[in-house]
Amino acid sequence: MRIEGSVALVTGANRGIGLAFSRALLARGAAKVYAGVRRPEDFEEPGPEPLRLDVTDLEQVAAVARTASDASIVINNAGIQAGPGLLEEGSLDGARREMEVNYLGTWAVSRAFAPVLAAHGGGALVNMLSVASWRSTERFPSYAASKAAQWSLTNALRVALREQGTLVVGVHVGWVGTDLTVGIDEPKSDPAEVAAQTMDAIERDEPEVLVDDTSRRVRAALSGPLDLLYPSA
Ligand SMILES: NC(=O)c1ccc[n+]([C@@H]2O[C@H](COP(=O)([O-])OP(=O)(O)OC[C@H]3O[C@@H](n4cnc5c(N)ncnc54)[C@H](OP(=O)(O)O)[C@@H]3O)[C@@H](O)[C@H]2O)c1
Repeated sequence: MRIEGSVALVTGANRGIGLAFSRALLARGAAKVYAGVRRPEDFEEPGPEPLRLDVTDLEQVAAVARTASDASIVINNAGIQAGPGLLEEGSLDGARREMEVNYLGTWAVSRAFAPVLAAHGGGALVNMLSVASWRSTERFPSYAASKAAQWSLTNALRVALREQGTLVVGVHVGWVGTDLTVGIDEPKSDPAEVAAQTMDAIERDEPEVLVDDTSRRVRAALSGPLDLLYPSA
C-alpha cells in the first residue's frame, strides 16, 4: 500500500523504535501520524499528533480508535522487557506485565482498529515482533514468551483480516540500539533501519520483515534440527 498521503498510528511512539517509525512515516509522505504515548504532555517531537495511549487500558484504546478513525496504517510497537531470569527467585510480576503490554496490548489495539482499517480499504497492521518470537533464552524467558504469543496473535490476525484486505506485517529483529537494550554488549541494529525496512515492506505489500542477519538465520533454522537454535541443548 502507499504510505504517501496515508494516516498512521504508532504505539509507544515517544522513543526508541516507535519514534523511528513515526519519523519514517512522515519522511515517506504520510499525511498524519498519531503518536500513541503514555504522557502526551511530555511529547516534544515536531510533526506527529500525540494521543494518550497506554495499550493495557481498554478505555484509552477505544478512545484512540475513535479519534484516529481516519488511520489506514497501525503499528503495534509499544513493548517492555521486565521479567526475571529463568531460575531467579522472587516475583513473577514483570513477566505478567510483559504479557499485558506485548501480547494483550497488541491484541487490544488490533481488535479496536480492525473496523477502522476495514473502512479504509484494508490498510496495514504492523506488529513489532522479535527474534525472541522464535528463540528463547535463560536471561529473558518471559520476554521471549510474550513475543512468541504476539507472533501467534499476528498469525491469527493474518487469517482473520485477510478478507477485509488488511496487510498484516510481522517485524523480526535481534538487538536494536534503544533504552530497552542498554547494558547489553552485543551488536545492535539502528532503529532507523528497522523503520526503513518496515516502510519498504508496507509499500511492497510484504507480510514479514527480517531486519538483520540474526533474524534471517533464526528464521531459517526453525525448519532444521533443534541444535541449530540451541547448540548446547
Ligand atoms: N530494542 C530491541 O533490541 C528490540 C528487538 C526486537 C524487538 N523490539 C521490540 O520493539 C518495540 C519497541 O522497543 P524499543 O526497543 O524501542 O523499546 P524502548 O526504547 O524501551 O521503548 C518502548 C516504548 O514502549 C512504550 N510503552 C511501554 N509500555 C507501554 C504501555 N503499557 N502502553 C503504551 N506504550 C508503552 C514506552 O513508553 P514510555 O516511554 O511511556 O515507557 C516506549 O515508548 C517493543 O515491542 C520491543 O519488544 C525491540
